[in-house]
Amino acid sequence: MSTRPRSPAPSTPAPGKLPLPELIEMKRRGDKIAMVTAYDAPAALLADEAGVELILVGDTAAMVMLGHESTVPVTLDEMIFLTRAVTRSARRPLVVGDLPFGSYEISDEQAVASAIRLVKEGGADVVKLEGAGRMVSRVRAIAESNIGVMAHVGLTPQSATKLGGFRAQGRTAEAALKLRDDALALQDAGAFALVLEAVPAAVAARITEALAIPTIGIGAGADCDGQVLVWHDLLGMYSGRTPRFVKRYAQLSDEIGAALAEYVADVRSGAFPEEQHTYAIPDDELARFEDALSARQ
Ligand code: KIV
Repeated sequence: MSTRPRSPAPSTPAPGKLPLPELIEMKRRGDKIAMVTAYDAPAALLADEAGVELILVGDTAAMVMLGHESTVPVTLDEMIFLTRAVTRSARRPLVVGDLPFGSYEISDEQAVASAIRLVKEGGADVVKLEGAGRMVSRVRAIAESNIGVMAHVGLTPQSATKLGGFRAQGRTAEAALKLRDDALALQDAGAFALVLEAVPAAVAARITEALAIPTIGIGAGADCDGQVLVWHDLLGMYSGRTPRFVKRYAQLSDEIGAALAEYVADVRSGAFPEEQHTYAIPDDELARFEDALSARQ
């Protein structure tokens, strides 16, 4: 793995990095965009090798990496630490640093300062935040500071309590219209893409049609311009509740559990380590060592 230092500046993308405008071109061509979350360097390398366009260092890290019950407790410092690990090994995909709860709600200035930290200290290529309403102005302020910003509406986990829990959004005509209006406002404010989470497929399709920027769906149907899944959900590595929109492509926690149990049994029985896992010392050196030990007794 290369340790080449990354350029922190959004204006000077690293060589080989997917250019941001390519996402709009993909939407125009009808090419689907693949995004996945990742929270460490080996995962980012695998995602890059698999060909994803976008890696999200999501605040879901709070739950799947840090053991919290919700995404709310994760701090900006923790998100920067995780983002830095991902950006060390992601080459082509754009790395999206997620702004955690409490790092952008107070003012546009706070939002810009937090976004700058994710880019400068974490090496994120772009950032993401949740919500519309007052958050439209945060999106505008970040975009005007020359940092690409992805918006996120529908089920916004940071405000799940206010939304009445982790439930689908936009299921009445009024709510669907409001979602569409929010999406247009976020696009006008300068968002380069929009995550639609837990939104009826037909509503997401209409919003996707209405926008020039790509929509990235998670529980929002097949007509979005791209899809995102959380690493641990996709790979079967999370033991908490999994939403219905998750498709599991592996059940790695079973494999990891079985491997660990075998390791523990091998240690206890002495089956590990074997000769092939140990280092040898030349016979003459061993003899001299033994002699030296005897001389000391
Ligand atoms: O934090 C995250 O992982 C997200 C995705 C669920 C889109 O926001």
